[in-house]
Amino acid sequence: MTDQSDPEAQAGKLKPWIKPSIVMHRSGLVNKFGAVRRDRWQTDIEEVPIGELVHDFGSPLFVISESKLRDNLHRLMRAFTARYPSVRYAWSYKTNYLGAVCNTFHQEGAWAEVVSAFEYEKARALGVPGEQILFNGPHKPRAILERAIKEDAHIHIDHLDELYLIETIAKETGKVVDVTIRLNFETGYTENWGRFGFNVESGQAIDAAWRIARSEQLRLTGLHSHIGTFVLDQRAYGAQARIMCAFLQEAEDKTGCEIETLDFGGGFASHNALQGIYLPPEQVVPSFDQYAEAICTPLIEATYERSARGRPLPILILETGRAVVDDAESLVTTVVANKRLPDGRRCVVADAGVNTLFTAFWYNHQVLPTRELIGTPEETVIYGPLCMNIDVVRSSILLAPLKAGDTLVISPVGAYNNTQWLQFIEYRPNVVMVHPGKEVSLVRSAEKLDSITAHEHLPKHLSSPVKSK
Ligand SMILES: Cc1ncc(COP(=O)(O)O)c(C=O)c1O
Repeated sequence: MTDQSDPEAQAGKLKPWIKPSIVMHRSGLVNKFGAVRRDRWQTDIEEVPIGELVHDFGSPLFVISESKLRDNLHRLMRAFTARYPSVRYAWSYKTNYLGAVCNTFHQEGAWAEVVSAFEYEKARALGVPGEQILFNGPHKPRAILERAIKEDAHIHIDHLDELYLIETIAKETGKVVDVTIRLNFETGYTENWGRFGFNVESGQAIDAAWRIARSEQLRLTGLHSHIGTFVLDQRAYGAQARIMCAFLQEAEDKTGCEIETLDFGGGFASHNALQGIYLPPEQVVPSFDQYAEAICTPLIEATYERSARGRPLPILILETGRAVVDDAESLVTTVVANKRLPDGRRCVVADAGVNTLFTAFWYNHQVLPTRELIGTPEETVIYGPLCMNIDVVRSSILLAPLKAGDTLVISPVGAYNNTQWLQFIEYRPNVVMVHPGKEVSLVRSAEKLDSITAHEHLPKHLSSPVKSK
């Protein structure tokens, strides 16, 4: 029988027969993780209705909580200062260098930790004095090193070529520069990031200490190491403390230097769900108290003798990034379409993709609707708006049916998104901050065509899309 409504069939061209198949839908009513929580949706951020935020600032939209930023830093500092008398905190700019975020932390006493000329200039432009900047990173061009030395920033040396360059600049300017060296080593719990700094086990690090001791322009006063990121086993930090203290002792005994600061870098995990980790963040992420205990106990044990001899304890520096900023920010995105994939899975297209939410590549973020959803939850793929196959915000999540126009809240997103986001295909969206008292400020405005073309230059003969004759 021919289908009278199908013009191809009417014209005698029959479509090939395709074997029907039955695709199992994971309804999500009950599965081995328990029942799907259907009663979870989020209508506001810090008591500001999400509908109002989207109405006023558009979608997608990043929303930062000022109180949460301050509260997170207070909790971190409380955990460490309760266990060690001398603690300094420096905000890791690369984690989120929006001015409003940096200045919230600076107002709480944070120094700046920067890793490039751009980040150094940004910290200075925000008003952070050079003496409160820790300058890390493997690439510090001469011009910015000259400025940092002049402004008494704390330079953390990554390699010998940098050491020689600092020494040359110091000689030229008649300065004696206090420096820190970055160390790398095996903790037994983390993979050694051996590409940064000087290796302890091979003797590179003590050689660098010797080289500094022989210089008339340099003084070794600090040791730094950053052992990794999203470190879930706090014992790694205990090992770090023991190794750094042993090196401190060796460097002081052998070279006569006097170490004033021990910088533990960052790396504490945030309450995000790393892909491939089976258990939820609440069960696997150590608390600030656990990290603090892991560091401070061996630190006090190792430096006890020194303090008994009247020497001051080294200042403990933290550069914790993601763990203090991640859960202070959410991303609101709007569903633009519903589709069925050929294999039967449901998918939705959202207006925020991996261009906006770069961390979707390694986290399974929490995704909540902003209203009670009606219907049976089903395995769903969340795609972003990019015309690129890689644009997957979530490859599988159980969600009840959504409608175009529905909004979703994705969190936590405060770390490494507002710095690693891409201007790719789409403009980057607005970022707002909710202040105490439900006041909302725009802290970064959405890009427009001009924001991108302002940096382009058209050669005269290419100033028109029409070829001149
Ligand atoms: C030197 C240094 N300090 C601090 C951080 C912040 O790390 P996290 O966000 O994991 O705490 C990083 C991140 O890579 C870093 O390289």
